Formats: sequence, C-alpha cells, structure tokens
Amino acid sequence: MNEQTINHLPGGSPCPAVSPQLSLDIVAVYSKNCSKDISISQWHNKKMREVLKLEKVKMPNRPAMLFPTILVGADVNGRPNYCTVGACGVVNLEPMLYVSLKETHYTTTGIKENGCFSVNLPSPDLAEKTDFCGVVSGKITDKSELFTPFYDESGKAPMIRECPINMLCRVTQTITLSDFVMVLGEIVAVYADKKGLTAGQIDPVKMNPMVMMYPSYFELGKVAGTVFKDGNEYKKTLDIGQLNNWQ
Ligand SMILES: Cc1cc2nc3c(=O)[nH]c(=O)nc-3n(C[C@H](O)[C@H](O)[C@H](O)COP(=O)(O)O)c2cc1C
Repeated sequence: MNEQTINHLPGGSPCPAVSPQLSLDIVAVYSKNCSKDISISQWHNKKMREVLKLEKVKMPNRPAMLFPTILVGADVNGRPNYCTVGACGVVNLEPMLYVSLKETHYTTTGIKENGCFSVNLPSPDLAEKTDFCGVVSGKITDKSELFTPFYDESGKAPMIRECPINMLCRVTQTITLSDFVMVLGEIVAVYADKKGLTAGQIDPVKMNPMVMMYPSYFELGKVAGTVFKDGNEYKKTLDIGQLNNWQ
C-alpha cells in the first residue's frame, strides 16, 4: 500500500477533500488489512491527530438534539387553543406526522374531542407568543385571542394565519407512552404564505421556521448544503468500488 493509493481515494483529488471521519475509516481499514505494509500520508496523520484531540464529554441520557418548534392548534369547548410542541416529526413518506402531547394538556382534550389538530410553524417574530403558549395552559388562561384562526372544510381545528405554514391533520392513531400520548395524524390540508414560495414551492429561507435546542429558539440562518446534490457530488470524488473491496 503506498502513498499513491491513498491519494487515489478521493478520485485523485487532493487529500483535504476527505472528511476527518473518512480519514479515520480509511486508516482503520488500512490497519486491519495491511498491518505492516502501510504508508499513510502526512496529511492523514495530521488530520487524525487533530480529530483525536477533540475532547468528548459524556452527557446525561437525554435527547441532545434539535426540536422543531410548532404550535399545535385544537378547538376545545368551541374555542381555539394552541400549545407549543417540540416532540413532533415526520413518520414516513406518506402525508403523515406525529405530535407527542402530555395527556393532561388542554390541547390534548380538544384533539380527542374533534379527532383533528393543526400544526403551525411560527417564524421568529412569533417567538414570544410561541413560548407563552408553552408555559400557559388553556385550562387556566384563554389563549383563543392570541392568533387569528382559519379553518379548512376537511377538519375542525384552528390554523394560525400569522404562521407561514399550516397543516391540518386528522388523527389516525394514538399511542400512550407513560403520561404522554403520541398522536399520529394524516395531513389533510396544507397552507403556505404566498410570499414564502419560490416557483410555487415552499422556500425554507423565506419561510424561516424556528428550531429549538434548549435553552434557545433559533432561526434557520444560512444554507449549509443542498439535499441529494452535495452527497452525490462527493460520491463522484471517491473510488467507492475500491473502498468496498477493502471491506
Ligand atoms: C419549547 C417548548 C416545547 C414544548 N414541547 C412540548 C411537547 O413536545 N409536548 C408536550 O406535551 N408539551 C410540550 N411543551 C409544554 C406545553 O406547550 C405546555 O405545557 C402548554 O402550556 C400546554 O398548553 P395547553 O394545556 O393549553 O394545551 C413545550 C413547551 C415549550 C416551551
């Protein structure tokens, strides 16, 4: 195994195109298969030393990750109510999503009452009201006047006009998980602010939804890459066949 082979990995491109993780993978494969006959480039050695210097600290077993920030809407006793939810997400490629709500929330009562709920994506200008909906219960304080609701004929749940994206969901399944209920909903209607579209498609930068990672809410910020494009371009720089042969 020689230096040329290593340089050949990223399709002959200079070594800095290789990610630190890939460098480690390569080194691991070399070490496993070619224990003695190895000459690793200086660049790889340097990069590996840098990566190994990154200190890791073991943290408590909690979801250390991003949460979408959404407002779930439901009519309760004939009035709109909204609550902030971070435990929500995509389930599969069907028009379906889930929200995980405390059984005792006022919103949960409304979802059970109507079999419907809305998912609204607030933009950063609504951060204060969004947080308010997450600290105050409709059981005690009427939150119905906080936003301007609108409805779609396919289900009885209030959507928030001030939020750039709204989805109306019909409950398909509920799963009780300790004192939470995971509500799976079929998306039956989607609305988007016209000014947030580019060529008829939802433009995430224009829509600017918020994400939450404790203890802060964040804006999306700048584009970091392009889905299904960057990976494919990187793939082209690798001799995947050779990598596979080694494994
Ligand atoms: C950022 C944030 C995220 C939250 N995520 C959830 C969640 O995923 N599930 C949940 O049950 N409650 C969540 N909460 C708490 C509820 O929003 C809060 O208890 C709310 O007051 C319930 O309102 P309601 O009783 O009117 O339905 C969250 C609160 C905040 C501030």
